[in-house]
Amino acid sequence: MQRVSVFGSTGCIGQKTVQLLLKNPNKYKVEVLTANSNFELLARQARLVNAKNVVIADKRFFRDLKESLFGTGINVKAGSEGLAAAASIPIDRAIIAIVGIAGLMPTMKIIESKTKIIALANKESIICGGELMLRKAKEHKVKIIPIDSEHNAIFQIFHSSYNLDKIVLTASGGPFLHLTYEQMKNVTLRDAMSHPIWKMGEKNSIDSATMMNKALELIEAQNLFAVGPSKLDVVIHPESIVHGVVSYKDGSNLAVLACPDMDIPISYALSWPRRSSIINKQLDLTKQKLTFFEPNYNQFPALKLAMEVLRSNTPHANSIILNAANEVATGAFVESKIGFLDIAKIVQEILAATKVTAGSFDSLDNIIDLDSNSRILAERLINSNYVSTRCTVAL
Ligand SMILES: NC(=O)c1ccc[n+]([C@@H]2O[C@H](COP(=O)([O-])OP(=O)(O)OC[C@H]3O[C@@H](n4cnc5c(N)ncnc54)[C@H](OP(=O)(O)O)[C@@H]3O)[C@@H](O)[C@H]2O)c1
Repeated sequence: MQRVSVFGSTGCIGQKTVQLLLKNPNKYKVEVLTANSNFELLARQARLVNAKNVVIADKRFFRDLKESLFGTGINVKAGSEGLAAAASIPIDRAIIAIVGIAGLMPTMKIIESKTKIIALANKESIICGGELMLRKAKEHKVKIIPIDSEHNAIFQIFHSSYNLDKIVLTASGGPFLHLTYEQMKNVTLRDAMSHPIWKMGEKNSIDSATMMNKALELIEAQNLFAVGPSKLDVVIHPESIVHGVVSYKDGSNLAVLACPDMDIPISYALSWPRRSSIINKQLDLTKQKLTFFEPNYNQFPALKLAMEVLRSNTPHANSIILNAANEVATGAFVESKIGFLDIAKIVQEILAATKVTAGSFDSLDNIIDLDSNSRILAERLINSNYVSTRCTVAL
């Protein structure tokens, strides 16, 4: 029996994870489930899997959650202290499906507990935690298994960088693949949420539409596989069947092909180093068309920004800034404060306006500080009606 925790169990990835755990009740014992505000779903999940502890990050919902679980014996905690305490419980495998930089603190705490495997969907923590997080994971002998389908694929096939040509991340291209840059000017939140293939949470859907998702994934890949930006590439593959390719100089290409369903990488991360038999989603290659083409960097400037960040003198700092500005700008787009194309423009402005000298960060506090400062700058830019304003505040 493996003891597992799911941080962010009420989200898209979290719900899929809970469903997979329920299919295997004799294999997994759930120690912790967490959510931000959705106490009703969290309480339902906790009863279903008989969780030992639950945490609601937003303290305003503590009482509601407590009432919903009254008499069950399930421990209820709230806030960042609650998350930190839950993350410190040593278990066999932790699944991190929180969205945004909010996933970083619990991930760092889990690394410091005696938990040995982290199945990590939260790309923002890999991006912002950077060298610090990966070094700590190594020190504490924690295995990190990425759940993002592209990185999960590369994790499965990348065993040596000797004579590596490149690592290719595939991208569906999102809902606006066939629009021009001009045509994207007036797209709505609803348009941006209509991904042709993947069903995702709000932020990830918008990130896919701007292709900031692929930009973040380039940085995630560099952090996880450390091959250098010149060996990373993105190819558009609308069918999302090939998830990642590792090309060697001798002309061999290794790839992972699978149906576009997050159940597959999640179940791999739940079963690693074994393979799971709980899902049966076979690919019929005879019925499958596979197309590939180069991304248009002018249509999706986010990709260019990621490459600039990776090639800069301070890639870790710039990754934190890019992520923070994107989280703020995406939130502003959701609230109709800015247009769709402004998201990448704001990220670019904040990157250009922020002067950092430290290349990487040795503490979580320093990372959070840079993240907070970048958010303040992005919010100021948005509240000053954006367009012509240029931030000049140096950090
Ligand atoms: N969805 C996908 O197909 C997919 C694929 C690959 C990678 N990912 C990555 O997986 C992560 C989760 O994505 P998702 O689409 O599942 O997101 P989501 O549906 O928005 O779910 C996010 C989860 O995080 C919780 N949460 C939000 N803000 C929080 C905070 N401040 N503190 C603590 N918990 C918080 C949410 O709780 P509430 O429900 O209470 O708000 C929810 O449980 C992201 O990093 C994303 O990039 C997702």
